[in-house]
Amino acid sequence: MKFMSGRELREKYLQFFASKEHLRLPSASLIPENDPTLLMIGAGMAPFKPFFTGKMKPPHTRITTSQKCVRTGDIENVGRTARHQTFFEMLGNFSFGDYFKREAIHWAWEFLTEHLEMPKDKLWVTIYPDDEEAYKIWAEEIGVNPEHIVKLEDNFWEIGPGPCGPCSEIYIDLGEERGCGSPDCAVGCDCDRFLEIWNLVFTQFDRDEEGNYSPLEKKNIDTGAGLERLASVLQNKRSNFETDLLFPIIEYASNVSNVAYGTNEKNDISLKVIADHARSMTIMILDGILPSNEGRGYVLRRIIRRAIRHGRLLGIESAFLTGAVDAVVEIFDEVFPELLEKQDYIKKVISLEEERFHTTLVQGMELLNHHIDELKQADKVVLSGEAAFKLYDTFGFPWELTAEILEENGLSLDKEAFDKAMTQQRERARAARQENQRISIPDLSGLDTEKLTFDMRAQSAQVICIWKDGEMVDNANDGEEAGIILDVTPFYAEGGGQVGDSGVFETELGKVEVAAAKKLPNGTIYHIGYVVEGTIKVGDIVTIAIDMSAKKATARNHTATHLLQAALKRVLGAHVNQAGSSVSPERLRFDFSHFEPVTAEQMQEVEKIVNNVIFSATDVEIFETSQDEAKAMGAMALFGEKYGDRVRVVSVGDYSKELCGGTHVDNVAMIGTFKIISEAGVASGVRRIEAITGAAALEYFNGKLATLNTVSDMLRTRPEEIVARLDAVLANVKELEHSLNELSAMKAKAEAQKLLLAVQDFGGVPAIIGKAQVADMDELRNLADLTCDKLNGGLVVLAAVGDEKVNFVVKVSKEAVKKGIHAGNIVKATAKVAGGGGGGRPDMAQAGGKMPEKTGEAFDMAVATIKEQLGI
Ligand code: ALA
Repeated sequence: MKFMSGRELREKYLQFFASKEHLRLPSASLIPENDPTLLMIGAGMAPFKPFFTGKMKPPHTRITTSQKCVRTGDIENVGRTARHQTFFEMLGNFSFGDYFKREAIHWAWEFLTEHLEMPKDKLWVTIYPDDEEAYKIWAEEIGVNPEHIVKLEDNFWEIGPGPCGPCSEIYIDLGEERGCGSPDCAVGCDCDRFLEIWNLVFTQFDRDEEGNYSPLEKKNIDTGAGLERLASVLQNKRSNFETDLLFPIIEYASNVSNVAYGTNEKNDISLKVIADHARSMTIMILDGILPSNEGRGYVLRRIIRRAIRHGRLLGIESAFLTGAVDAVVEIFDEVFPELLEKQDYIKKVISLEEERFHTTLVQGMELLNHHIDELKQADKVVLSGEAAFKLYDTFGFPWELTAEILEENGLSLDKEAFDKAMTQQRERARAARQENQRISIPDLSGLDTEKLTFDMRAQSAQVICIWKDGEMVDNANDGEEAGIILDVTPFYAEGGGQVGDSGVFETELGKVEVAAAKKLPNGTIYHIGYVVEGTIKVGDIVTIAIDMSAKKATARNHTATHLLQAALKRVLGAHVNQAGSSVSPERLRFDFSHFEPVTAEQMQEVEKIVNNVIFSATDVEIFETSQDEAKAMGAMALFGEKYGDRVRVVSVGDYSKELCGGTHVDNVAMIGTFKIISEAGVASGVRRIEAITGAAALEYFNGKLATLNTVSDMLRTRPEEIVARLDAVLANVKELEHSLNELSAMKAKAEAQKLLLAVQDFGGVPAIIGKAQVADMDELRNLADLTCDKLNGGLVVLAAVGDEKVNFVVKVSKEAVKKGIHAGNIVKATAKVAGGGGGGRPDMAQAGGKMPEKTGEAFDMAVATIKEQLGI
């Protein structure tokens, strides 16, 4: 076999496939383009997905690359095995509907055996069990010993949704002495003897998000050969880490820590972790990723912090990672020349992160060790989610790091509770960001405001000052909210009822989402920012991007507010005056003087006028003039606002002229459409209209239409026929109600007749005492009225008996009242027996009891009470 450096090997591979008419392309960035299914590129084929599926035409049907890849699924195995790495390079030759199995297999064999001079008898291949075609090529054309061809069920390659297919791998037997010694040891065994060095994927399918496989129109080839693995074979090393692609970093870490490689397994793990992670972090930052708490930034943070911890395990007390970056750059400077350019930048990013974590690592470890001791003493194995969250929140421990350290001690963490604490914190942070965008401001009286300017065209600026929680600071880091003042800003600040602009600042080392721009009392514009990645420092140069879609939506709503005001004056009268307004990207709110609700017709009229102006596509003109001039032109001044001598006039043809400093569209047609969504009184003589425009209005109409469609589905008719259908349904309901009433009346009559059959006599006073079948109290009262009327000067005591309660009604005629009968007293005594209470007038009373089973005894009490009242 030929000894070859990593560099030589990479070059040899690419040249070989270039000689087979492959277009040689540089590695794509680790950040996938237009592919939300991937966090980072993890295979040579990943950047080419659209070429395989036919969605895009490749620049050539044969391509070869050495692709940067990051896989973190097995991060905890890094350093523990000979092969696991988070960053690696994958050599690949690809065919997009060009050559297929035959050429791919022949070329793989040719390269390995002729150019790398690998011994043929040491090579093994695997195939997908029913891939006869591949079997034939290997056995008959290449001449591989059939005993060296292994059928493996799991020879099917895929990485999330996208192109995939059966595959055929090539292994090298590194010798019995590298094996596990088991009699079953063979290709596919987890030990180090048989090493997979090549994977040929016959890309024939496209997998969707749901896991369905559909055949691709054209057959393709996707090859993957791990550069570090091949290098380990050619350099006769026991692991990838000992090749020249990683070992210089181990040497560096060994020097800094004074820990020799190869003497202690635990230390070796830490040295290897540092070597691998240093490569990952360097290339991730090179490709534009910054540490943060989300997505790729979080992966980067986790890798950096994990490396720092392993440095500490080796006894490294101070920052050491930037030196590792230098070692990485030396390894890669030829293949990624941009590394040299960005070397200082990468080191800056890493040293900031290292500084941040170093200061808390010791305290955090102390706390975690304390928890571990406590758990062990208490014979417990699970660390609470709250404790893990505190380590994350206060000391910057990614939960995975906490989990790993716990695992090293035979413990685990309550991930569910951790997630909950994390979600709660995210929600709190989001709410805080949205909540009116208020921020406490420090004493800024020392600020030299002379040099601060507003310039709509500014695209970059320098950070003049930063504050957090009301205190001036030098920098703000990711996850923090800060007030920021720039030397020049294009941000329109909140004012005149209009919200300020929002957008993004990017610095060399960080990214800030600007939620709002506001003005200090002296007019200085400040920004409320949330650092989402990295850091922002005083003195930094930021590039500025305003959220133009929000700005345009705000402009639409602001110009529409002017049109609304003019329309209201026309429809309601000249007394309409602005009493306040609020304009945001979402909607506009306009308060005005008017003494009665605006009618539906008036509102329609207003909408019509405003929309007609919009359709007129008139330009909006903005100019400055003197106050007197503006008045002479009839410009409306905003209620309660003061203007200097020079004023800004916003005018829409002859239709509207207002003094206003806000943001507006260039032409009213840009408003799109205008819709009032509410009208209400807010104070005496002040009405409020809320309205929407543009996309928001369209969304509103679509929402209404969706409701209409749902209703028509429910009524099983077409939207155009809803009204007729609903009329019919309502008429039907009315009819049913009528029938139901008739039925109830009939039922009551029957019930009354039944009761009248059992009239008792108390010394000439007729009385009915009995149970009634009724639906509710109303029916019971009606029945009492009905039956009492039928008696000649008598009384009725009725009970409606339910499962858990009994209701009583007593009704007494005038004559009986005169004879001393008192309904209230009867009901009181009666209900008491059934576990209840109540009372009422002499002629009418009702009550309820909780013991329906006592109704009989209660009636006995009614009889006794009646007798007592009549003195018989
Ligand atoms: N895409 C295949 C792999 O990564 C070649 O193994």
